[in-house]
Amino acid sequence: MKIKSVELVKTIYKSNDKYPESLNGEFVFVGRSNVGKSTLLNILTGRNIAKTSKKPGKTASINFYKINNSFYFVDLPGYGYAKVSVEERARWRKIIENYFSKRAWNIKLVFVLIDGRHELQKNDEILLEWLKELELDFAIVLTKMDKLKNSERAKMIRYYNDLYGENYTIIPYSAVTREGIDKIYELIEIFGGV
Ligand code: GTP
Ligand code: MG
Repeated sequence: MKIKSVELVKTIYKSNDKYPESLNGEFVFVGRSNVGKSTLLNILTGRNIAKTSKKPGKTASINFYKINNSFYFVDLPGYGYAKVSVEERARWRKIIENYFSKRAWNIKLVFVLIDGRHELQKNDEILLEWLKELELDFAIVLTKMDKLKNSERAKMIRYYNDLYGENYTIIPYSAVTREGIDKIYELIEIFGGV
């Protein structure tokens, strides 16, 4: 799959903001704050288009990137970051929930990013259960694998495969070594991103 053009076409701050036209569907990147969603989007597009930060809570809106004038990559705010205000967290939660419930019909595949150094957190589990209820296809991307020693790495991959590997694809990934990127492109192609 070759990315020829990337354009930020819509930013959503409120749950009643209007979504863009559907095109040929969308791929969405979701996960806790700071897990690496925006970084992955920049790697996939080969452009420094999504803002990233060492500090959690960088992406505060839903951003629709139009790819090849054909489909979208959707970057979501992260969840689970305790330091943003209660009101701000409630707003993020609302726009994320609103997004999945209103837009599920146009989603081809959800990439759920989880920090590969840690075991599953409660809010990841809630999200995954909810995606199942919505009958959405998802793949789990284990991020920051470069930070793990080989023994830890094998252990964490086994742990996530035991939990979800039977029905869902688990992709060990690193923005530093670029491991996993080919597999992510492959899934985008399989699920109809052209
Ligand atoms: P929010 O927008 O706050 O929800 O965060 P995000 O999920 O978009 O994370 P972002 O892409 O901004 O990355 C957060 C930090 O993690 C940045 O400092 C990235 O450079 C770093 N990072 C992302 N992916 C990796 C990775 O695979 N390995 C390592 N070592 N660092 C990574
Ligand atoms: Mg972000």
